[in-house]
Amino acid sequence: MKNFEYTKENEEKFQKHLKKYPNSNCVLLPALWLVQEQIRWISPEAMIYIAKRLNKSPAEVYSFATFYTMFNLKPIGTYHIELCKTLSCMLRGSRELKKFIKDTIGIKPGETSKDGKFHLSEVECLGACGGAPMFALNGVYHENQNINSLEKLIKECKSC
Ligand code: FES
Repeated sequence: MKNFEYTKENEEKFQKHLKKYPNSNCVLLPALWLVQEQIRWISPEAMIYIAKRLNKSPAEVYSFATFYTMFNLKPIGTYHIELCKTLSCMLRGSRELKKFIKDTIGIKPGETSKDGKFHLSEVECLGACGGAPMFALNGVYHENQNINSLEKLIKECKSC
């Protein structure tokens, strides 16, 4: 079992959250976000760490983390593509983007590439319908996408 602890930078953010919110219940969500930002998923060790830090039981943290679908409960690729599948994006080409990802990286929604670089999720509307089709890459929105722009981005990610 590999222990988890915040980086120095995330510890500072965590301390700010503790001061900002009235009680530990309110800190649970941002505390888990910090974990996901740091290691890209919520590991069991991280849940235990958060439970200790917030004086909660691991079961409370687990039930919270599993309630929200935006938390990754298993390791994912270095680059997490969250492709919007809702109406505006679908009408403007999200299915073609999904097919391109399958053809070039070899992954379908819910899968991680063999090299561990990419993970694809299909998600509901991310609130950027005016920029359809769009996806988030590690949380950063990429709007008005097409096959060419996606191909360029994938190449950039592969070369890192
Ligand atoms: S439909 Fe894709 S962002 Fe809203």
